[in-house]
Amino acid sequence: MKSVTSLFPLSAVAAALALACSPAVIAAHHSDHGQKVTPEMLATQIVKKMSITQRLTILVGPGYGYDGNNALKTVEGTAGYINGLADEDNGINLPAAVLSDGPAGIRIDPTRDDDSGTYYATAFPVGTLLASSWDTALVEKVGEAVGEEARAYGVDFWLAPGMNIQRNPLNGRNFEYFSEDPLVAGKIAAAETLGVQSQGVGVTIKHFVANNSETNRMNVDNIISPRALREIYLRGFKDTVETVQPWALMTSYNKVNGTYTSQHHDLITDILRNEWGFKGLVMSDWYAGDSALDQENAGNDLLQPGGTNSVSGEEQLSVLEKAYSAGTLTEKTITENAIHIVTQMIKTPSFIQETPSNSPDLDAHATLSKQAAEESMVLLKNDASTLPLYSGQTVASFGIAQYTTRKGGTGSGDVHSEHTINIADGLAAEFTVDSTLEDLYSTWYSENRTEDTDSLGISTIYYCDEPELSDDQITRAAKTDSVAVISLSRLSGEGSDRTDTEGDYLLSTNETDLISRVSEAFHAQGKKVVVILNVPGVIDTESWKSDVDSILLAYMPGQEAGTAIAEILAGVTNPSGKLAQTFPKSYSDVPSADSFDGVDTDDDGTIDTNYYDDGIMVGYRYYSSNDVDVSYPFAYGLSYTNFSYSHPRVVNNNVSQSKENGSVELSVTITNTGNVAGKEIAEVYVAAPQNGLTKPNYELKAFNKTHTLQPGRRQTLDFVIPTRWLASFDAANNQWIVASGSYKAYISPSSDISQITPVTFRVNRPIVIPTTANAMALPSGISVTATGGVVTP
Ligand code: BGC
Repeated sequence: MKSVTSLFPLSAVAAALALACSPAVIAAHHSDHGQKVTPEMLATQIVKKMSITQRLTILVGPGYGYDGNNALKTVEGTAGYINGLADEDNGINLPAAVLSDGPAGIRIDPTRDDDSGTYYATAFPVGTLLASSWDTALVEKVGEAVGEEARAYGVDFWLAPGMNIQRNPLNGRNFEYFSEDPLVAGKIAAAETLGVQSQGVGVTIKHFVANNSETNRMNVDNIISPRALREIYLRGFKDTVETVQPWALMTSYNKVNGTYTSQHHDLITDILRNEWGFKGLVMSDWYAGDSALDQENAGNDLLQPGGTNSVSGEEQLSVLEKAYSAGTLTEKTITENAIHIVTQMIKTPSFIQETPSNSPDLDAHATLSKQAAEESMVLLKNDASTLPLYSGQTVASFGIAQYTTRKGGTGSGDVHSEHTINIADGLAAEFTVDSTLEDLYSTWYSENRTEDTDSLGISTIYYCDEPELSDDQITRAAKTDSVAVISLSRLSGEGSDRTDTEGDYLLSTNETDLISRVSEAFHAQGKKVVVILNVPGVIDTESWKSDVDSILLAYMPGQEAGTAIAEILAGVTNPSGKLAQTFPKSYSDVPSADSFDGVDTDDDGTIDTNYYDDGIMVGYRYYSSNDVDVSYPFAYGLSYTNFSYSHPRVVNNNVSQSKENGSVELSVTITNTGNVAGKEIAEVYVAAPQNGLTKPNYELKAFNKTHTLQPGRRQTLDFVIPTRWLASFDAANNQWIVASGSYKAYISPSSDISQITPVTFRVNRPIVIPTTANAMALPSGISVTATGGVVTP
């Protein structure tokens, strides 16, 4: 193998190596002559040496499951490669780059043929759980660990984080995503990006944009108003791009307003690159879209996995070669797109031919995975201080989910971890558990579990029905044990949506039956009942929550699931997570309940169009503006201690003085008024003047979390709201606008602000931020409501 130095001029190589080795790879460097050599300049030099045919090979991946051109290593089980190029005559040695999924960790094969080594990766909590920590420092640490693992295993780009908006609880991939709110999604994605990229590995934020359902995901056309796109679906991506410059971004499968996102010039070039200043590479989702040519012309630089698109049937490289010959794909476009890709490739470990250590610190990452799970779980109910349990209590553990514990979802979001600690083992390690019940469940599980793969053939799943318990068995436990813990789980994954039926959104008859019988028996003995929800997202809680005393929402906690849950139950960790999504009273209350998952407009038996009739009224924006009671509001979460809020104030406001770059700064003092140490998350909700555009009653504009506060201790939390986050999108005039007038800011522990006295600040004159004219326009004939909901034709 030729060394990199024999093929590049030394000055460029030195700069490239410096760039690749430095954690702060984005910073510019200096060559021998003192001239700044940016990655883009170096990439331009490399690409300009390539023939057009060679440049085209960079734009198209090598095909699923094959090594890329000039692949110096194979990492089995990754999602793909970016082709490299070795051309000694022209002085080019660009190694292929390795791409691996996400988002709950690194997804590679754990074993390899003819190799006794193992390549397990750490399964971290899923995105929804991580976001429930509202702790950007913690998420950044998780990102660092993922980046370290990626680097150790020879991975250059991580295909994550996923940051789509959880528009509707039934989206099958919601677990991979963070929140129903774009500020939370944007901040958590930015934190994870910072962590990963600090290790010299790139992220790929995805799926750009509006992958909010999985039904007919490769073709569904999401009809979304420009206002809803800007304020809800694009906004988190914008923030992440502008604040941390992800190396890569993945377009989604779906269409928006008639065009595949990967073929949407408005979206990728006008908005992402030109308005937001995105500097990274844009790749397609796997086999997305129907025209390689349109993708390249739209600015979707890299087609993945490449080869023959199994959906469109195009042999993509030859399609592009022919388009170049025919003049429909220009040298300029080919060159620009190739430079976007190579600019990022030369930052990677593969570029400096780093040999994978294959020995990440899995023990340290397991500890971090557990910590992240514990810091993020949400205590939904805790009547009469049922939790924490104390060590002398005997736990009667019910529910087959204690064995079918789900560490994460299925599909590309799955991670091959060495172990998953199930709830039964977690409880047994922390408490004395009822051994009769333990035997009953473990025997039932080993005799009745079935094994299957998910619909994409990626994940192995173990299923098992609930055993039928007799009244005597339950009554015996109620008499003998101190407390009942009932575990319920759900699975969800890529490729299909959830349903609002029993056994999915609703509890199954067996589960309802188990909860009511166990509760009755334990309550008859004066004993408490705790429910653990090991679920991918929102499920019904309203119909059964009054039967039980405590509910811990564990979501999908990653490989240390059982331990993390048991440690919360035992009070080793005081829960401090809060919901990043609303739990409605009923699925029919969800603003998109009627329009999800779309309609079959041409009567061919397939859903093809999804009219986003809810506009900007997604999640709490809708419930709070329409006085719809919910089961648990957005940002709700209990603690084993209590906190008081005092001295809310506006510290500084220069919005009126400084065009779009100003900010409002606020603070509040939080005091731990209870008996145990804990952390508190506070949010700022802003009610904007209702002049001009119709707005939600209030919207989240900032959040912050305390460090661990001992009883009696306090901390002042600061909040910064940049001017651009105060703006609403005025689609008629293609601009963001911050209305003038008086704003109320509620510094609150949850989105229920009914008990909070607001502080106020003024904006003296409207502030306007222009955008691309008519970008992402709706198809003709579609009208829009005052809050950006499209009216179904
Ligand atoms: C998913 C992406 C994933 C890719 C590669 C696709 O099916 O939608 O999220 O990164 O596969 O595995």
